[in-house]
Amino acid sequence: MKPIILLGSGAREHAMAAKLTRDGASVQVIPGNPGIPNSHPGLDPLDFESVAAFARHQGVRLIVVGPEAPLAAGVADFFAGTDIQVFGPTKAAAMLESSKVWSKDFMRRHGVATAQAWQFRSDQVAAARAKAAELGGQVVVKYDGLAAGKGVYVCASPAEAEAALDDLQAHYTGWYSFLLEEKLTGPEISIIGLTDGREIKLLATSQDHKQLLANDEGPNTGGMGAYCPVPFADDNVLAEIRRDIIDPTLRGLQHEQFEFRGFLYFGIMLTPGGPKLLEYNVRLGDPEAEVLLPALDSSLLQLIEATLDGSLARQAVRQRPGAFVGVVLASGGYPAAGFPTGFPITGLDKLPAGVQAYHGATRRSADGPLVTSGGRVLVLAAHGATLEEATARAYEAAAGVDFQGKYVRPDIAQRPAPVLTQRVVN
Ligand code: AMP
Ligand code: GLY
Repeated sequence: MKPIILLGSGAREHAMAAKLTRDGASVQVIPGNPGIPNSHPGLDPLDFESVAAFARHQGVRLIVVGPEAPLAAGVADFFAGTDIQVFGPTKAAAMLESSKVWSKDFMRRHGVATAQAWQFRSDQVAAARAKAAELGGQVVVKYDGLAAGKGVYVCASPAEAEAALDDLQAHYTGWYSFLLEEKLTGPEISIIGLTDGREIKLLATSQDHKQLLANDEGPNTGGMGAYCPVPFADDNVLAEIRRDIIDPTLRGLQHEQFEFRGFLYFGIMLTPGGPKLLEYNVRLGDPEAEVLLPALDSSLLQLIEATLDGSLARQAVRQRPGAFVGVVLASGGYPAAGFPTGFPITGLDKLPAGVQAYHGATRRSADGPLVTSGGRVLVLAAHGATLEEATARAYEAAAGVDFQGKYVRPDIAQRPAPVLTQRVVN
């Protein structure tokens, strides 16, 4: 069994650990959580010296990174040139995610289809207000740095744009940059692949549900549920995405000589004018991973090893047939601050067949029972022959697991099919 270390602590990492274990790896997780076997809550994934000491002690030669923070802090650079390989990009390449301004410039330099944008510094808010007014308030304001799902304001009126810029000024201090983007419309899809910077192998297409409430209303969250594959992302749509977004990105990575071996995530909007890239992430999506990994029939371990040894081109990616739906069980009050946690969780021992529970924010209380410890407590991921069947199974499972204040968005994987503008791609 190949020993590996996985960095991270959420439901995404639970799904990664489960898949890698199925693939024959022996996985140690730093720090992990109470749902993930072989978790090490005493170790800090950002303390690379300690991670290295633990890896050497355990004879581990491969570290797989779940979240963005260790990548943005340079975990791949730290281990470069050692006998321990890291699956995840360097700090410089992680700027595709960690800086929205830098990433927008990268898209522009390499002709990646994306929204028009204007860059401002924190002392240019007045100019940004004028630009937002000129655009009728139909803008998206984006803070430059990592903001954990916050820092993006989608505005529908001049008043909302004003309020967004007020909020930006109230929240962030010191020097910072931000973008004002033209607001695009259309369905969103997540395209995630493993890349060595030249070749990319895509997982299934998926869709997240970022807003808290049904019909995509309410505040943005870290994601309330996901499903795969996306029925309307047909070959024609994927060919356009390859041509206008993925291929120029890979050419750009090569041209700028970035060391990128890891997951690359394209957050895409299918606009009437063609697919446009909203953002890159340099990791698996969460909660997308919780459906994409159960759906992956091929060995993730083998794909990761092939990415690292340069043989990715020869790998095939096979998907399991059917559909996969993941619904998040969230704490009441999330995503606002200050919601209560510490409530006992019941029903996890009686999950229906074909359903997996991935822990996002749970802990063991002093007297033993599992309790809630954060906003997105669990993701229940179900498989079905059809999307409808997987959805029904996921909600049936969600009804059987309980804790005080449990909230489940009621319409995951139930968006009406969009009408897409047809274009023929040669
Ligand atoms: P981001 O972190 O850049 O992906 O933005 C978070 C969310 O804001 C996206 O998933 C979209 O729903 C929305 N968004 C971002 N950029 C735009 C845009 N240019 N037009 C419309 N919606 C956007
Ligand atoms: N599901 C979106 C993200 O992981 O950023």
